Amino acid sequence: MKKILVVNGPNLNLLGTREKDIYGRETLNDIAVRVNEEAEKLSMFVDFVQSNHEGEIIDKIHDARGKYDVLIMNPGAYTHYSIAIRDAVKAAEIPTIEVHLSNIHSREEFRSKSVIAPVCVGQISGFGGNSYIIALHAASAL
Ligand code: DQA
Repeated sequence: MKKILVVNGPNLNLLGTREKDIYGRETLNDIAVRVNEEAEKLSMFVDFVQSNHEGEIIDKIHDARGKYDVLIMNPGAYTHYSIAIRDAVKAAEIPTIEVHLSNIHSREEFRSKSVIAPVCVGQISGFGGNSYIIALHAASAL
């Protein structure tokens, strides 16, 4: 059974109340439930975590080494500038899929740059909570 770790970065705990016009009405917990249901159908095991702290995210990535087959990650705003998270992803040697609820390429210019994407297998951006479901299918096909 493939083991997947889904890591969510800062402010994603506020989904459902935060900028609903951009991120939708689904809470992070709603997404976690859907991801778990889909994972069961795909015979995959999923752990789903969130942190507002860069170092904690890095620790989770380090701990994932050797324990998970694929990492699905929404680094939130860290996407755009955290070289430390990028280096952790690279060091972990786990195939990683970057996800975003919004289409980061159609928003402010600073969001279109991801420093994490170059060390990922690929990026899924712009499908709301379904970005995670699509990523799960991509992980299953890896
Ligand atoms: C986000 C996009 C980021 O630019 C933003 O900082 C977020 C959420 C997304 O899922 O669309 O926190 O990662």
